[in-house]
Amino acid sequence: MDALEIFTALGTPDGRANPYPHYAALHELGEVLSLGPGAVVVAGYDAINSVLRDAEFRVSDEATFDSDFPGWRDNPVFVQGMDWILNLNAPRHSRIRSLIARAFTARRVAGLEPAIVRMADDLLDVMADSGADGSPVEFMHDFAYLLPVTVICELIGIPEADRESFRPVARDLAGVFELNDPATLPAINAAAVELLAYFTGLAGERRANPRDDLITDLLAISDADDGRLTDAELLHNLTLLLVAGFETTTNLLGNGLQVVLQQPEAGAAVIDGSVPPGAFVEEALRYDSPVQLTSRVGYPTELCGTKVGDGDTVMTMIGAGNRDPRKFTDPDKFLPLRAGGAPLSFGGGAHFCIGSALARLEGTVAFPRLLSRFPQIAAAGEPVRRETFLLRGFDALPVTIA
Ligand code: HEM
Repeated sequence: MDALEIFTALGTPDGRANPYPHYAALHELGEVLSLGPGAVVVAGYDAINSVLRDAEFRVSDEATFDSDFPGWRDNPVFVQGMDWILNLNAPRHSRIRSLIARAFTARRVAGLEPAIVRMADDLLDVMADSGADGSPVEFMHDFAYLLPVTVICELIGIPEADRESFRPVARDLAGVFELNDPATLPAINAAAVELLAYFTGLAGERRANPRDDLITDLLAISDADDGRLTDAELLHNLTLLLVAGFETTTNLLGNGLQVVLQQPEAGAAVIDGSVPPGAFVEEALRYDSPVQLTSRVGYPTELCGTKVGDGDTVMTMIGAGNRDPRKFTDPDKFLPLRAGGAPLSFGGGAHFCIGSALARLEGTVAFPRLLSRFPQIAAAGEPVRRETFLLRGFDALPVTIA
């Protein structure tokens, strides 16, 4: 098969269910492959790393949207999205990202640990109650989905009473990352409008009554004399934090548990301490990456012998890079104590995930607590994969815990 045939196979239901044999086939062909005019696929670890760190490869931004999708301004989600740091290039990206980073500090993330422990234990209590008699519990619904969204609400400063109604709206908005069906756009737009109205109200409240939370810190930055972060930039990037940090972390929890269900010795090693939780999380991120790819807009250059043209779509296949045999020995084995370097799961360069420390913290808190509490955890029926390709995870992962 040539690169285009392999790439096409990746888009089929079978390819989405298990992309890894197709990635192996790409690796045999090379690190960087042309898919025909205008499209290049980057599958090798080193090549992905260098594309993501090369500022001349830009993210799709307002200019790209203007030429590819002239009607985008009619969609509230894209109007907000064009302020998201994910969709900005320098110098605007650097300005807004560094201001957000000033509030989203390592200290603030570390300070969330006691709350994460409490939230994880509360969810495990509920799982313990409903699964005590041996009946199946749905891990994605009862744990993996609830923990990250509650943690982000806590980080931002969303009051507990509002969180319940928040979750489905956040989930709808997250659909924007994998927009295959235009019929989903109205719900995504509605979610964007609702979240923006909510954050506008919350910002008003926090201006009047500041608290120790991220939204209060961001408001202080935006209210600074030189007006470095506009209200729109602030509010729009709050919706980004919510959606970027939610389903991704949900998928880390689900994909990591699936490894344990298939290879119970991996869970036993976390319980007996022979594998540190951080090493388990790192290998889970590599082995079954929650984000499988991102992309950049090309500029005239050559990558590993393949020509890239101006404006080409350059697909950096993170999930493939994480299984690159040139980088990782036995890439298809789950080996948490492996050497070989960090996975590409949080990207690299200017857009490196701003929430990576938080996601890692959630994983290192959640897995040892879950596995020690339910050492007998086992699959209870077939898991249901989400039919998405960019974000890889499960819709359902039924388990028994007793
Ligand atoms: C396991 C969980 C997560 C994974 C796998 C993940 C993955 C990624 C990746 C691959 C990128 C880079 C995209 C690119 O270069 O095009 C990214 C960016 C980003 N992530 Fe995460 N993420 C996770 C959790 C989080 C969390 C918890 C938050 C926030 C609370 C977050 C917020 C962001 C933001 C705001 C960006 C954009 C950064 C920028 O463009 O400068 N992520 N993430």
